[in-house]
Amino acid sequence: MSVMRNVLLAMSTSPFLREQATKRAFVRKSVSAFMPGEQVEDALGAAAALKPQKINTILTRLGEGVTRLDEAERVTEHYLDVLDKVKAAGLDAQISVKPTQLGLDLDAEQCQRNLDRICEKAERVGNVPVWIDMENSPYVDPTVKLFRKSKERFKGVGVAIQAYLYRTPKDIESLIPLGPAIRIVKGAYLEPAEVAFPKKSDVDEAFFTLCCRLMHEDAQKSGTLLHIATHDTALIDRLLKHIETYKVPASAYEFAMLYGIQRGQQQRLAQSGRRTRVLISYGEYWFPWYMRRLAERPANVMFVLKNLFGGD
Ligand code: FDA
Repeated sequence: MSVMRNVLLAMSTSPFLREQATKRAFVRKSVSAFMPGEQVEDALGAAAALKPQKINTILTRLGEGVTRLDEAERVTEHYLDVLDKVKAAGLDAQISVKPTQLGLDLDAEQCQRNLDRICEKAERVGNVPVWIDMENSPYVDPTVKLFRKSKERFKGVGVAIQAYLYRTPKDIESLIPLGPAIRIVKGAYLEPAEVAFPKKSDVDEAFFTLCCRLMHEDAQKSGTLLHIATHDTALIDRLLKHIETYKVPASAYEFAMLYGIQRGQQQRLAQSGRRTRVLISYGEYWFPWYMRRLAERPANVMFVLKNLFGGD
């Protein structure tokens, strides 16, 4: 992986840089390419604007690694309220949560209770799926555990799984019998070569293989739903060919992308009748998330610099 990616991902964990960046207008302006605004109303507005294009959404409030359980409680209450707002707006919008935002670092059982409260309400307001994001590798075991426990009670819970981790094929095999909803992503964190493929081409290949595995007949029979979460057009085309060749039913998969990235591709997929969702982030705690977006595409750094010298 590139040196630039590693530097940006290392910077993403710096409290000093976070404080500096959030004060700078030019950074805030650049963030707006990936985020319609800091308030949930901004995200709901963006979701409503995507609806006529047949693009549905997933909403997530930025934030991770909360340091007090009352913060995790506030996040939980926030999502309970978001579910009411989604219903009132008549949107097909799901939600996505980060375990460390629900208190995983502080008290795993409380985190589970917070997640289950959200899942319970999501089911009650209209079977709204709830996704669990995957954070960096030390969190994989506790996150899979959270997912398994919630899945015993709530049909509509799903989990993100990262293609760059060597362990992932094994995790997938153990999850398939549950009939899971799984979002396959490449993986956004800085991971050592002992746990994750250092080469992008290996990650891409693993992504393809995992998606094919989750669309296989036996996975279908168990009720598996795959979210193909990538902006990689070559991979998407390759997977579309696989879908055609093996006549994978449309109910077996959805495409998922991030707000503001590859908009043309999002529209093409939706217009061609493929189920397509865009994950919309909002909230004040955007710095580490934004740095991960920069790391995914070093050209984005040029965009920030252009804004800097464009003056504001
Ligand atoms: P890749 O990085 O190969 O990019 C392919 C092309 O897409 C690039 O050439 C560029 O054109 C475009 N592109 C990609 N990223 C861009 C960016 N930031 N800005 C502009 N253009 C860009 N990760 C994780 O670890 N845990 C999680 O829970 C999630 N959740 C998640 C949900 C959804 C819906 C998506 C789409 C992604 C995630 N991710 C994630 C992030 C994921 O791991 C990965 O870092 C990004 O999706 C970037 O990788 P791509 O698959 O897009 O391919």
